[in-house]
Amino acid sequence: MKIGNQNYQSIWIDESDPAVVRVIDQQKLPFFFEIKDLRSVDDVFNAIENMTVRGAPLIGAAGAFGIYLATLEINSQTNIREHLSNAARYLISCRPTAVNLSWAVNYVIGKLKNEQSSTSLTKTALDAAIEICEMEKENCRQIGKHGLKLIEAISKKKKGSPVNILTHCNAGWLACIDYGTVTAPIYLAHEKGIPVHVWVDETRPRNQGAKLTTYELGQNGIPHTLIPDNSGGHLMQQKHVDIVIVGSDRTTRTGDVANKIGTYLKALAAFDNKIPFYCALPSSSIDFNISDGVKEIIIEERDPDEVTNVTGFSEGKIQSVRICPDDTVAANYGFDITPARLITGLITEKGICRATEKDIIEMFSYKFN
Ligand code: MRU
Repeated sequence: MKIGNQNYQSIWIDESDPAVVRVIDQQKLPFFFEIKDLRSVDDVFNAIENMTVRGAPLIGAAGAFGIYLATLEINSQTNIREHLSNAARYLISCRPTAVNLSWAVNYVIGKLKNEQSSTSLTKTALDAAIEICEMEKENCRQIGKHGLKLIEAISKKKKGSPVNILTHCNAGWLACIDYGTVTAPIYLAHEKGIPVHVWVDETRPRNQGAKLTTYELGQNGIPHTLIPDNSGGHLMQQKHVDIVIVGSDRTTRTGDVANKIGTYLKALAAFDNKIPFYCALPSSSIDFNISDGVKEIIIEERDPDEVTNVTGFSEGKIQSVRICPDDTVAANYGFDITPARLITGLITEKGICRATEKDIIEMFSYKFN
């Protein structure tokens, strides 16, 4: 997608030095646009952990490049299999909720099974990481095409007045490699001249909506309004929301969705107000091995400082200010589970399906052959 007049992906290989993985530093957006170089497994671990890179598909791709960088660390003394499986375990441990991370790391490790020399390990790992990026881009493009139909249908019913879409967190191109999952249908609708307007939840505590989704939508000319997280219910009651579309970090085979904390409350409000609630996700975010999101998905708990402090821009720099008494105890759960029964449908690269085990397995039956 474009920043200014230039096209970017959220992760890429440095053309002049293929031993360097480049990412947009999402900790600095929207205040500073900075590119960060990742040169080692540790660099990738830190970038995922401190959320320089974030969003399920992107942390998967970063993990995949992490294994590529691990192959560059091999020397004549290295026990190759031990080194690679340690790197894989280490990278997967960064963030527990998004299944894309373990999926992508294990995908690259699987490709390396039969490689022996460090040169072939490196080449195969790089090819696999790039393949994952291309696949995620294509997934988003397809999600865009399928999701567009929903927006078109609403637009027709509203006789061309703007379709109001509410979203939570950032499931845009920054979170993916390009296009985004939630944003792909919105960008396509906008390109087709369908009037759209996005309600952007600020997404406390890290404010990915306020900092990243607004930035992305603004760069791409999409009308949007930033709202506090608590406004969704009111807007839905007042019929100012036509459809809710959110992303997913892990979806069970039965259709329960883990996404950024606060998603569940939006789903409850949408259900009560009979507003369609969709999750847009690539199949790399589906964990086909689990059936009960509430019992089986590990919810990341992050530093309470993210709750007790707010980070923003003042006097030319990014600063953090405390918003509660010094001794306040805070809890910081990163994600919650939206049960399948509250979800109208899943927008995937293969089409739209209901959030049921039957429909999910049917749609992705080719993965089980
Ligand atoms: O903690 P984050 O910023 O990585 O959380 C991101 C989300 O919850 C997104 O909605 C999800 O990863 C889907 S991104 C296409």
